[in-house]
Amino acid sequence: MTKLSVLAILLCSRAAAIDLTGLRHVGDIASFVKTDAGIVLACADGSEVRIVVLAPDLIRVRAAFLHKLSGRDHSWAIEKTSWTAPRWSLSEESGALRIATGEIELIMHRSPLQLDFRDPATHRTINADQQPMLFDPQSGTVAAARKLGLDEHFYGLGEKAARLDKRRGEFTMWNSDTFGYQEGTDPIYQSVPFYIGWQHGAAYGIFLDNSYRTHFDFGASSQEYAAFSAEGGEMDYYFFQGPSIKKILARYTELTGRMPMPPMWALGHQQSRYSYYPDTLAEEIVRRYRQEDLPLDALHLDIHYMDGFRVFTWNPQRFPNPKGFTDKLRAQGVKVVTIVDPGIKYRDPGYTVYEQGAAQDFFLKRTDGRPYVARVWPGDSVFVDYTKDAAARWWGDLHRAYTDAGVAGIWNDMNEPSDFNDQTGKSQMDVVTYDGGENSPYAKNRNLFALNEARATYEGLHRLLPNQRPYLITRAGYAGIQRYATVWTGDNRATWEALAVSLPMFMGLGLSGEPFAGADIGGFTGRTDAELLVRWYEVGFLTPFCRNHADMTSPDHEPWRFGKYYEDIIRKYLKLRYRLLPFLYTALEEAHRTGMPVVRPLLLNYQEDEDALGIDDEFMIGADLLAAPILKADRTSRPVYLPKGLWFDYWTGAAQQGGRMVRVEAPLETVPLFVRGGAILPTGPDMNYVGEKPSDPLRFEVYPDSQGEAFATLYEDDGLTESYRQGQFRRTTVTLRRGVIELSAPQGSFDPGRRTMVFSIRRAAEVRIPDDGRPHRIPVPHAAR
Ligand code: GLC
Repeated sequence: MTKLSVLAILLCSRAAAIDLTGLRHVGDIASFVKTDAGIVLACADGSEVRIVVLAPDLIRVRAAFLHKLSGRDHSWAIEKTSWTAPRWSLSEESGALRIATGEIELIMHRSPLQLDFRDPATHRTINADQQPMLFDPQSGTVAAARKLGLDEHFYGLGEKAARLDKRRGEFTMWNSDTFGYQEGTDPIYQSVPFYIGWQHGAAYGIFLDNSYRTHFDFGASSQEYAAFSAEGGEMDYYFFQGPSIKKILARYTELTGRMPMPPMWALGHQQSRYSYYPDTLAEEIVRRYRQEDLPLDALHLDIHYMDGFRVFTWNPQRFPNPKGFTDKLRAQGVKVVTIVDPGIKYRDPGYTVYEQGAAQDFFLKRTDGRPYVARVWPGDSVFVDYTKDAAARWWGDLHRAYTDAGVAGIWNDMNEPSDFNDQTGKSQMDVVTYDGGENSPYAKNRNLFALNEARATYEGLHRLLPNQRPYLITRAGYAGIQRYATVWTGDNRATWEALAVSLPMFMGLGLSGEPFAGADIGGFTGRTDAELLVRWYEVGFLTPFCRNHADMTSPDHEPWRFGKYYEDIIRKYLKLRYRLLPFLYTALEEAHRTGMPVVRPLLLNYQEDEDALGIDDEFMIGADLLAAPILKADRTSRPVYLPKGLWFDYWTGAAQQGGRMVRVEAPLETVPLFVRGGAILPTGPDMNYVGEKPSDPLRFEVYPDSQGEAFATLYEDDGLTESYRQGQFRRTTVTLRRGVIELSAPQGSFDPGRRTMVFSIRRAAEVRIPDDGRPHRIPVPHAAR
């Protein structure tokens, strides 16, 4: 590493610690009013604090300082605002008020005003103010400082280029275009101000729903407190009581929404580069994939497909017949995804997109009425104010340029929004956003820009292709982005460090409501080598978003670029991914239905196992598959922590007891993979793209636990339309107990057609039956008991 790059890291990697000195404390409770939903505290200094009981395990705290709360109570992040009236009570104690639900006891000390969230059964504190809430009337900063537990750990915060456990870290939320970021760069593209605190096996969550620049300090500047602050707006946070992280995540994703099912092909392998053109070259890439017998479901067109980087246009020389082009690829099972940046070329005579938008006053402007002109790929550009309904609708409808051309997915990039004139946002502070008539400042809206863009895009695609599932990928986002878009982790580097940090990034996203994520395989900027590319695929073949992508000046790194030996290994993993699709799709549907991520830290599945807490160089897919990839050059073995219970080596079938660290051999061909005893992995046939063949035979790989039992569900639907929402899916339950496999009568009305089901049981013979949609009891020959 050069001296210059070390300096660059130092310069960009320090988020500001939260400095509480000079901030004022909120006044004491002077009086209070009980409402249907909670209580409003009037403070001696004129501040107002509103406590709302939303559910037994969910309480919202809103505060305005030196004045009352504003009338408008709206958040772009929130999907659900009310629950069926939860039971709670209010009582007065000496010096305090007390709200009790079945799951939370909230003590509101009167003087000074401090909030203490407790367990109602034991009256022990879960999380409490270390001092009263703070504010600065001049700058508008609002802050809270909570007692920091000696054994407290912190998780979440969405996309952070940091380790999984955020204790002693400090982080900022300010969507930023951070080309070539690395571990420690903060902030990066997305802002999800939600975290989970864990202490002695019990967890709580806090979602600071404030889109201004926010800061989180988990004991970086004090031994006594963990603080969060916002540089404007109200103090507005939600407190989630666990103690289970899964329960917190279920609630958080109920509040901010869950991922809709993407089309199943989105789980397929995708190929990109900056940029494939002309059409004949892009076709050549696809032909090569098929020639090499490498799975591929989508090809991405980066900015050069456009005419002068004008969004919603096609370059007539490079792509003279877009529909003909997408048809040709589709015939080979490959869907086309086009990049769509938010910057619209400014004052461009004859460019109807600009002209229509300007005529209808759809673009963001500064307070003095001048348009906000940013500099991005097309040169001077303007951005749409997506909070104006008519503008959002217009933007969405513009996508007809793509859907008419047979484009199947949209890739929203540069939406922090990136502005080459000033990436910090400082010179954009006078930009005004309509925001429901509030005409609110840029400081509030920067972090929301991508969320609103994604909403407009998603809704547009839905209108254009009714009953089809939109597929969107976004770089930036705010809490709730999962309702509209899947995400990728932006412009990473072709380094081992970048590969290593991608694991905690996926897990952090998963713990923040965003289950569909991935990184540019091989690394975006710089030069990957064969070993790194292979090891990257040994991670990427399991992540929901599995896309190989490279920068304009990066050497090519498609799977065949380093020769047969490496290509064969990559093929092996891509083929395995496609065989695992029934398993991966079932995990995805669980994420859609419950908010539980696909890629999970061990911590989520084994919350009380202290040894699993800090592990972020291994991950699990759902509850059953554990991967411990090699994340360093030239390594052929590694220690792997296996949680308690029985584990099967995926490759050898050997079983061993967990609850310990084991050393595992991992030559380049092998990623250490383990299956939990008690699991059943539903798998399908080899395929080169989703839908190439029916899932026949459907093979259940059964891994009995030490009692000889195992269990799984399989989720299936048509993979493309919205009919799953009307019950057109099929959920099949398979149980192994006392030497008998029981197949449930499937739920749902989706008919997958006739096929054979194969049960392959570790340490037993195989059984085959026709799938006739009826329940079955199948005795297992030589059962593993
Ligand atoms: C941004 C994107 C990258 C893309 C490039 C050109 O850097 O993050 O993926 O290739 O822009 O569009």
